Parts: sequence; C-alpha cells; structure tokens
Amino acid sequence: MKVLVIGSGGREHALSWKISRSPLVKQVWCAPGSAGMAEDITPLPQSSNITDAAAMADLAVNLGADLTVIGPEAPLVAGVSDALTARGPKVAGASRAAAQLEGSKIFAKEFMRRHKIPTAPFTIASSPSDARGALDRPYPAVIKADGLAAGKGVVIAHDRSEATSAVEAMMAGSFGDAGRRVVIEDFVPGEEMTFMVIADGERYVSLAPTQDHKAAFDGDQGPNTGGMGAYCDDGIMSRLGGDTLRRRIEREIVEPTLAGMIAEGTPYRGVLYFGLMVTSGGLPHLLEYNARFGDPETQALVSRMQSDIVPLLLGDFSARVTWHSGASVCVVLASRGYPGGFMRGFPISGLEDAGALPNVKVFHAGTAVEGGRFVTNGGRVLGVTATGPNLSEAIARAYAGVERIHFDGMHFRRDIGAKGLRGPSLGA
Ligand code: GLY
Repeated sequence: MKVLVIGSGGREHALSWKISRSPLVKQVWCAPGSAGMAEDITPLPQSSNITDAAAMADLAVNLGADLTVIGPEAPLVAGVSDALTARGPKVAGASRAAAQLEGSKIFAKEFMRRHKIPTAPFTIASSPSDARGALDRPYPAVIKADGLAAGKGVVIAHDRSEATSAVEAMMAGSFGDAGRRVVIEDFVPGEEMTFMVIADGERYVSLAPTQDHKAAFDGDQGPNTGGMGAYCDDGIMSRLGGDTLRRRIEREIVEPTLAGMIAEGTPYRGVLYFGLMVTSGGLPHLLEYNARFGDPETQALVSRMQSDIVPLLLGDFSARVTWHSGASVCVVLASRGYPGGFMRGFPISGLEDAGALPNVKVFHAGTAVEGGRFVTNGGRVLGVTATGPNLSEAIARAYAGVERIHFDGMHFRRDIGAKGLRGPSLGA
C-alpha cells in the first residue's frame, strides 16, 4: 500500500514512522512533512497549503495513495476528509461536520449537554457585556476560546481580574476570530487523562491511555501550551480508577458521543480524542474533544503500540491491538518564549547521538535544514521519545536523549511522567 500523511509536526512524524513499519505498506509520503522526517519517509515540501481541500484530494489521487491520514485539526475542519471521500481514496480523518466537536468548543459543550455526557457546567458569552455577568462566579474558572487556537485557547483564571483579562484579550482578537465567542466553565479538580479511540461511526477501538503535560513549566506551572510531553503506560488507568474507570469512560462518554453523532446525522469516523479530568473519586469528566490524534501523546502512543496501526486506520477492527509491556515517554524540546513569540534558525546539535541511544527515537516537530544542518523552525522543536520496561526506565532513557541535544534557548520540562510514579489516587 501507499500512504499519504498530511501535516508536518511531531505527531505526523510519529504516525508516518509507525505506518512505515507496517508490513502492508511500501511507501509513505508526508505533505508537507519536514526534512527531519526524511530518514523514515518521503516529505513533500512543495505541498504547503494543507487546508486547500481540493489540492489535497488532487495530491492523493495523483500520487495513487491507497490511504490518506490527516494529522492536524485545520485540514479536518476545512473539509479535506470530505474532498478525499468524494474523490474515492480511503481516508483516516473526520468529516468537516464531525470535526466540529473540536472546531467549536461551544458546539462541543452544547453537544455534551444534549447527550448527557459528564462535563463541567458552563456559560457561553458572545460579547464583553454577556461575559461580565458570567464572570461573577466562584474561582478558579476556565475560559475557552470557541474556535481553533493551536491548543493555547484555554486559560485557567484564578480570580475575576484574570478571567476578565482573558475574555477581553480573546474577544479583542488574540486568537483571531477563534475567540470572538467564549465558553466560561467551572474548574474541575483532578488529574487529566487522554483517551483516544478510532471509530467507524458505530464501532470503535480504544487505544492505550496517555497523559499530556500542557503547562509550559515543571509542576504544571505557567501558560498552557500544545503539550510539553506525554507518557503511555498501563499505570495511568490503574492509578486513577482501573477497569471501573475504563468502563465508565467507554459507557458514559465514548458510546454516548458516537451514538449522539449518529443521531445528529454526522457519524464520527476517524480518531477521536477525549480530554478527560478524573476526579479524586474516580469520576471521569469530559473537558474537550479533539478530532484527531493528540500531539505529543501520539509520539508516546505509537512507540508503545506493538500491533500494526494501518488496519485500524483503514477501519478494520478485526485484529486485537497489542501494546509493548512497560512504558513510553516523549519529552518536548521547545524554543525560548514558546508558547508566546519565539525566534527560529538556531542550529541544533546532538541529534545523531540522541537517536543512536537504544530505545530512543527523536521525532521532528519544528525543524528545518539550513546550510546542511538542522535548525529550529517552530515553538515545539523536537519530541525525544523512549520506551522502557517500566515508566522510570523510560523516563531515564528519554532524558538521556535530551541531554545529548542542544540549541540556543532550548527549554523543556524536567518532570514528564513524574505523576505516573506516584501511588494510586483515591479513585483507584
Ligand atoms: N496534546 C493536546 C492536543 O493534542 O490537543
């Protein structure tokens, strides 16, 4: 088979790498991909407008791709999956209508309410005067921009003045049109878990749970980012609530979502990401949907996945999905200033040394080649990913890889996976 992956970040590098290891696959392209992926697959740097649905469908048809996998949210919301489906080639990616679960936080929260999916109480504000009344409330509170904001449109406000500043900035256009309307919701205390499934409308396969680290700095401090690191092991579920929690997630959140999408005439086909908060009593609350694989969760997920991912992406759920025992960890190396403004073009050293370590794989997120060497070219630059027989070994291996790499302004969290080393929570 020939497979086209759309996107250029760490998630797409990890997906392309995993797909390229399938015995079913002869060729993998990534559009546009990046030069850092070239050791695993074929990047197509000329295909830069990945939200142009007709152009992406032309590309897949002209290449003769048997399967197209859409990585980021923007092409999903722009209807690339619909354009491909209309032209015939198989696609792993939600339709434009289904991707509204991610494209509009307001749509998602109203959908959760309609289908009785456990989520925090919320108010919608469409103007600063709407928001003023809603901000007279207990704190902390969560303020979310309605539209797509690269994972940065969520603010946890600790008091009214922080909340007011966040709402005013969003409504004044800090995320473009994405923040013209906002959701203001109760803060649910607990521990976050990412639960992803691959669905064919009605049926689904659950993937191993992962845990992201969204805050920029150690100890979950600082502004929200797209994700500074992730890990994957069986301990996440057992620590937060075990099989009881898994059943609740599937019965109270996953299944009502898929049934609700069918009932509303927009069946969900593709990868669906449930961003959960598990309370200390072991109750799962849905914070958000994403219509795609998580980034950087995918780097950890596919590193631990033992079975072939390609049948799942084709909607063939007949074979059991298996996972390597032990754990995987991805540590993101970011540019100074990220998630705010940052500079590009700093030379990166140590990539070969890090990649040569046993059980370590360096996924490229924001890199480019200039003058024959890799330089930084994004906020999240690299995802140093390692597997190990247990979580502490996987953490040690990932950080051994991190130590080999250097670029000016490199910043990363030193506590990726640390929550997983704690004992069971009250919910377990
Ligand atoms: N890591 C969070 C996300 O992919 O949205």
